[in-house]
Amino acid sequence: MAGTATTETEIAQQVVVRTKDVKKVYKMGKVEVHALKGITVEIEAGEYISIMGPSGSGKTTLFNMVGALDKPTSGQVYIDEVDVAQLDAYELAWLRCRKIGYIFQTFNLIPVMSALENVTLPMTFAGLTTDEARNKGMDLLDQVGLADRYDHKPFELSGGQQQRVAIARAMANSPSIILADEPTGNLDLATGKEIIQLLGEMNRKEHVTIITATHDIKMLSASDRIVWMRDGALAKIERRENLDIQIGSIEGDAEGGVEASLRGTGEREKEESTDESAEQ
Ligand SMILES: Nc1ncnc2c1ncn2[C@@H]1O[C@H](COP(=O)(O)OP(=O)(O)OP(=O)(O)O)[C@@H](O)[C@H]1O
Ligand SMILES: [Mg+2]
Repeated sequence: MAGTATTETEIAQQVVVRTKDVKKVYKMGKVEVHALKGITVEIEAGEYISIMGPSGSGKTTLFNMVGALDKPTSGQVYIDEVDVAQLDAYELAWLRCRKIGYIFQTFNLIPVMSALENVTLPMTFAGLTTDEARNKGMDLLDQVGLADRYDHKPFELSGGQQQRVAIARAMANSPSIILADEPTGNLDLATGKEIIQLLGEMNRKEHVTIITATHDIKMLSASDRIVWMRDGALAKIERRENLDIQIGSIEGDAEGGVEASLRGTGEREKEESTDESAEQ
């Protein structure tokens, strides 16, 4: 029995994010929007999780709860098994500064600051000296492939480069969790895939837990698990390897699936017509 207890403790220690029946109701005058309808999920340390769901399904709302940026109407969010609702203002600030790195769709860099200054800003809040911050900032910019752009302001960088700076900034205080809300939403497909690859590298090398939201099935390659949301609820959670198997037969309820299936049909038709013309 003692052996079982140890195993349970070990498993419990690995859970970095736990939500318990999280509900969020936005009140708009007399109208209530039930944005989250009871989300219960566990995310283990070191996982790469993608949250998939159509617009309005509650992805950003869930991020705001997990990132301690907003409070659930009911239910609990635990980060490292600590109930976020029990934290005082100082502890919350510490959590947001040290424990969690945030990445947004629109990069949200400070326009008047250079890439390096953007990356080192959270380090300054965390109490690093200027030299320490500069060294760590340059190291992070190097990791995201932008050491030679350290002095560029955001408007002197491409969208993909800006998002790389945002990733370096999110890593500034060596967080245990990165929350990335549609980090590829403003990027073309190839650049988006590079960003996902980079997040995957950070996940593997730095062992940071990544939780990312996306609309796009083409952005799931680095994921360990996919959490599907629909209308404020969890539709299903599945491991990526299972999804890979389904992709062959076209995943009926996944966005992009229908498009892929239509494209497949189009290509077959083209091939058939080519065959016909060859015969003639
Ligand atoms: N501050 C708010 N006040 C009122 N309603 C809100 C607020 N924020 C979000 N909502 C509503 O809650 C629901 C969930 O919104 P949310 O932003 O979480 O969706 P999402 O899945 O992130 O969508 P998208 O993919 O478009 O970013 C939507 O119906 C939205 O209109
Ligand atoms: Mg959103």
